[in-house]
Amino acid sequence: MKMSGGCRLVIVGATGEVGRAVLSTIEDASLSLAEVHVLASANSAEETLMYNSRPLLVGDLEEFDFAAADIAIFAAPADVARKHVPRARAAGCRVIDHSAAFRLESEVPLLIEGMPVPAADLVACPDALVALLVPVLQSAGSIRSAQLTVLEPVSAAGRRGVRELAGQTGELLNGRGIEATVFPAQIAFNALPAVGNDRAGALMDELERVLPDSFPVAVAAVGVPVFYGLTVAVTLLTDAPLNLDQLRARLEKASIEFGNSEEEQGLVTPVTEASGRDGVYVTGMQSLPAPLEGVQLWLVGDNLRQGAARQSLYVLEKWIKDFKY
Ligand SMILES: NC(=O)c1ccc[n+]([C@@H]2O[C@H](COP(=O)([O-])OP(=O)(O)OC[C@H]3O[C@@H](n4cnc5c(N)ncnc54)[C@H](OP(=O)(O)O)[C@@H]3O)[C@@H](O)[C@H]2O)c1
Repeated sequence: MKMSGGCRLVIVGATGEVGRAVLSTIEDASLSLAEVHVLASANSAEETLMYNSRPLLVGDLEEFDFAAADIAIFAAPADVARKHVPRARAAGCRVIDHSAAFRLESEVPLLIEGMPVPAADLVACPDALVALLVPVLQSAGSIRSAQLTVLEPVSAAGRRGVRELAGQTGELLNGRGIEATVFPAQIAFNALPAVGNDRAGALMDELERVLPDSFPVAVAAVGVPVFYGLTVAVTLLTDAPLNLDQLRARLEKASIEFGNSEEEQGLVTPVTEASGRDGVYVTGMQSLPAPLEGVQLWLVGDNLRQGAARQSLYVLEKWIKDFKY
């Protein structure tokens, strides 16, 4: 679709959870773009997505010539990114990738909102959990170790995860049986524990790339019947006692919000605060009991908006400015 402005943008995986969040975040940012193309697999051919109240026809990624775009935001599975990102770069198109395909490659910058954006032609966006956590970890400083219990919404597994929770909920409320295909067991009205060793390893690798100091991280992940919004119970052991007032001031300076309740440190939840919104929200912050030194807090944020789409928007805006598209 032709528009005003100079940048020709393509969103790959536009029909997915992250792709749709990217499109609506860009719309909310009122960017001036010359063209917006939306791509997905051949299964989505002829679908339309709304952008600025106008329908965009979804194209087939396999058939797209990346010479027709200046910047591509990939919101597709990692294997799709590995296959098509080189094609985009070869055609002179700069790429922002949301998948895990390039996050640990030393020559590919892994960027979080606020970090300097280099003049590269490919940058990777982090795991949503990393994007939400890093501002908190940076504000705390001098961390000896971190323990995280992550309550993962079904949208972390993409559209299939969202459909499975909606489908199972409807079937069960109507007294019918259900089948689990995306998750290993029933997710509706349930909690699915997964000991997070794999998750911890990948998380530490990403954190090491973006934080100046490294420290051990233990992660336990639990799948919960929540559609959108990541919740993390965070325990940070530190080298020295933390002053909570100073920590709160540093967190607020890093644009972290303490909920919108009138009460001090009011309750924040993925549904009431995070879902569909930008930002990272913290509540329940308290010192650890002696002799432990450190802090405990509860953190929520939208895995699709703050955890993903805000991150690519940040790079996109910088590139449009720096390269005068
Ligand atoms: N969900 C999250 O919370 C989250 C957060 C940060 C990063 N990420 C990463 O972002 C990426 C997208 O995740 P998602 O949750 O949005 O997944 P999703 O809802 O399953 O969407 C996947 C998208 O990729 C497209 N796609 C799949 N196979 C394709 C192929 N062979 N050719 C062209 N397009 C193809 C799909 O198109 P069709 O609709 O045509 O199948 C769809 O548009 C993943 O790499 C994920 O790891 C996800």
